Amino acid sequence: MIQVPKGTFDVLPDDAARREVLEVHAKRILGAAGYRRIETPTFEATELFARGVGEATDIVQKEMYSFDDGGGRSLTLRPEGTAPVCRAYIEHGMHKLPQPVKFWYLSTFFRAEAPQRGRYRQFWQVGAEAIGSAAPETDAELIVLLADLLDALGVRARLKLASLGSPETRAEYRQELTAYLRDHYDQLAWEVRARIDLNPMRAFDSKDERTREIMAQAPKLLDRLTPDDAEHFEAVQRLLGDAGLLYDLEPTLVRGLDYYTRTLFEFDSEALDAAQSTVGGGGRYDRLIEQLGGAPTPASGWAAGVERMLMAAGELPIAPVLVDLFVAVGEDGAGETAFRLARDARRAGLQAQMELAGRSLKGQLKHADRIGARYVAIVDGQRTNLKNMESGQQDELQPGEVIPKILRGSRFL
Ligand code: HAM
Repeated sequence: MIQVPKGTFDVLPDDAARREVLEVHAKRILGAAGYRRIETPTFEATELFARGVGEATDIVQKEMYSFDDGGGRSLTLRPEGTAPVCRAYIEHGMHKLPQPVKFWYLSTFFRAEAPQRGRYRQFWQVGAEAIGSAAPETDAELIVLLADLLDALGVRARLKLASLGSPETRAEYRQELTAYLRDHYDQLAWEVRARIDLNPMRAFDSKDERTREIMAQAPKLLDRLTPDDAEHFEAVQRLLGDAGLLYDLEPTLVRGLDYYTRTLFEFDSEALDAAQSTVGGGGRYDRLIEQLGGAPTPASGWAAGVERMLMAAGELPIAPVLVDLFVAVGEDGAGETAFRLARDARRAGLQAQMELAGRSLKGQLKHADRIGARYVAIVDGQRTNLKNMESGQQDELQPGEVIPKILRGSRFL
């Protein structure tokens, strides 16, 4: 038995219907704010992610599906969407358009992670990117839009907010934090000691009681922001407050991508397992376009996991499959007439299906009832009987009279 590859899944019709609901909300909410859909290729030059996402990140180090294209070039199944959208922005000279250029996407992404509930090797994201604006209003707009999408889906999530400042500020802060950790070396848990040089920020996540006390007093990046960065961050917070969004300042928020500057945020849901509780996240990435060979261009965006949103979502109203007409074939067999009638009914705007499984007439009527058909046309030799399934009324009609009769008695009137 061949099964789906580990960490992947089939989207069955019922799942697809819920995904369509999500897509309609995303399109409505993002479209209303001027975001337009973009679709980039499923694979890109490996170099794009190495440079864009960052050589030192887990994604680039361990999680990329990379392969040789046969001509000695390395390609990679996209692990995320921001670097590709920036590549497209540069490649198509979109700096010449009125700025910012706002995009949204709903696509598949690939990461070779250890599969578990909410963590897959192929997964879907809805994302939004606004390229060409440094305004704090852009960050706030993006965050509000994601909050609106989560709201529309009935996902209750907590917003965590931070600012990273610039890479220069971060480098200085890292030195200060490392020195602080060294000064308190003896009081730190051994696993924190081991990571002082590798990743001093991890010390903030320690579960060790003593370490936590030390870290409560440690210098915070938020207190080291330049006046410009601090002002930008305050403006974002004011706008969010004004929009009625509640958030927790999380000075030690870290995300797995290297391109962030200034605003950084995440939405967490308690409806998900703790290790995969982030439904979506993003931030500003003012240096990325330049890193990828474009002119310096400020930008900001987010992505949210479709599977995680759907897991945390409330009841979604799925549109039922409507069947106005089921065309049954009688004993004398009239497959071609039946085919024509179903086809013409669809052309007239009705939802029409015909018998395709060779059932007996009794079986066909049962099937029509099961799928909720409003009318059944029984085509038998030259005769066509139309049965109203609700009233039980049955009329013998000329073939040309069937569709007008249904239209007269339906919502099209
Ligand atoms: P990310 O945090 O890596 O950000 O992914 C965003 C969301 O995608 C996560 O919060 C999660 O819901 C979902 N996700 C990530 N990995 C998996 C997985 N293996 N299985 C299921 N869901 C997953 C980014 O990708 C950035 N490009 C976001 C961004 C856009 N930043 C700025 N613009």
